[in-house]
Amino acid sequence: MKLGVNIDHVAVLREARQVNDPDILQALYVACESGANQITIHLREDRRHIQDIDVKSIIAFSKVPVNLECSINRDILDIVSAIQPHRATLVPEKREEVTTEGGLDVINHADATLYAIEQLHDALIPVSLFVDPTIEAMEKSKELGAEMVELHTGLFSNLFAMLNSSLPHSNYTIKELQLPRYELSDRLEQAVQDIKNSAIHANKLGLEVAAGHGLNYHNVHEMMKIEEIVELNIGQSIIARSVFSGLSDAVKEMKRLTTRND
Ligand code: PXP
Repeated sequence: MKLGVNIDHVAVLREARQVNDPDILQALYVACESGANQITIHLREDRRHIQDIDVKSIIAFSKVPVNLECSINRDILDIVSAIQPHRATLVPEKREEVTTEGGLDVINHADATLYAIEQLHDALIPVSLFVDPTIEAMEKSKELGAEMVELHTGLFSNLFAMLNSSLPHSNYTIKELQLPRYELSDRLEQAVQDIKNSAIHANKLGLEVAAGHGLNYHNVHEMMKIEEIVELNIGQSIIARSVFSGLSDAVKEMKRLTTRND
């Protein structure tokens, strides 16, 4: 399995202060040195985290392929075509969303998606489509000429968290999924089955299959069981975990610098 490490979340922290700390290129270096097979970044229209200059320097310095996520907005496509990442992943984008909430609607936005794919192909950039795990989306993605699909695992991840974590008791409970446990469990089984069926179908159509969104240290084993999935793109949980694997050293180092020996 290839691991694409999404380092957008490092830029989220940087942008909160608008200083170059944490340095995204240091995140790139550490991710590559630690075994990432790919770096995934998202150049959003609102430039909420990754900036144009980040994309250029990440592509220049990365030792592994860079998978650049972008919307089908024409200005963004012009930038992506000029920058030439190793691959572009087309994703839906809404200004008000906290994160990419669903897959690209390739059925209802087929013309715009086709235009985007053709523009990227003209720039010799292979294209992946971030889509919901449905058979229709797999067929349409193939018909539109994409090389790859990335299956949106958000519903699976949300259901898994509602069923297996303390999420239902937190401020951030997912209201739509406040179902009785047996129903959650049926829906989780269905969500896994949809991902599996879509992966098998896409694979038969000759599409490469990735998956991502909301995957973490607790739920990723479910995706590992699906042989047709060859790549996972994971961000939030890796960066969140790194806070706690690094916080102790960070505090100790500052404590050392702020300790007077006199
Ligand atoms: N794949 C795609 C296409 C995404 O848009 C995202 C989120 O930016 C991810 C993977 C990673 O999701 P997460 O940060 O939840 O691991």
